[in-house]
Amino acid sequence: MLSEKLLTTLNEQIKHELYSSHLYLSMAAYCASQDLDGFTNFFIMQAEEEKFHAMKIFHFLNDKGADIKFYQLDDPSAEYQSVLDVFEASLAHEKFVTKKIYNLMDIATQEKEYSTITFLHWFVNEQVEEEAMFTDLIQKIKGASHDPSLMFLLDRELALRTFTPPAPAAE
Ligand code: FEO
Repeated sequence: MLSEKLLTTLNEQIKHELYSSHLYLSMAAYCASQDLDGFTNFFIMQAEEEKFHAMKIFHFLNDKGADIKFYQLDDPSAEYQSVLDVFEASLAHEKFVTKKIYNLMDIATQEKEYSTITFLHWFVNEQVEEEAMFTDLIQKIKGASHDPSLMFLLDRELALRTFTPPAPAAE
């Protein structure tokens, strides 16, 4: 059985992941307003991935027989000045999420809640990948900032991004 503290923090993580999904949809809307179809697709796929993260916690809590709660989400709206601005905000947000995952891991470790520790390893690794992905794209966008043809190619590359939730055994 999960402690009240761990359960509350896991439920809060569902909120952070769903907020991430909303945030990335709002970034998709900004990219759409700039006629960047590939960047728009990238953020729509990222939003799907964040919903999948929330649902991983949903299923874990359900398997543990714990109460799943949904908290009110903040408004993700922001004024962006450029695509680079959007990606720098994305990376900052992922760093915030990483801190939240580490905090969860700290609690689970202090409580010796081994099933939650094992479950959270997936999220620790995922955060490494997400921060690396945004860092890499920031470098590419900076490199393309004075060359519209490079920006066009990057937009075309990001148009190819898809997201299919992995099968349970492969997660
Ligand atoms: Fe679910 Fe991007 O962290």
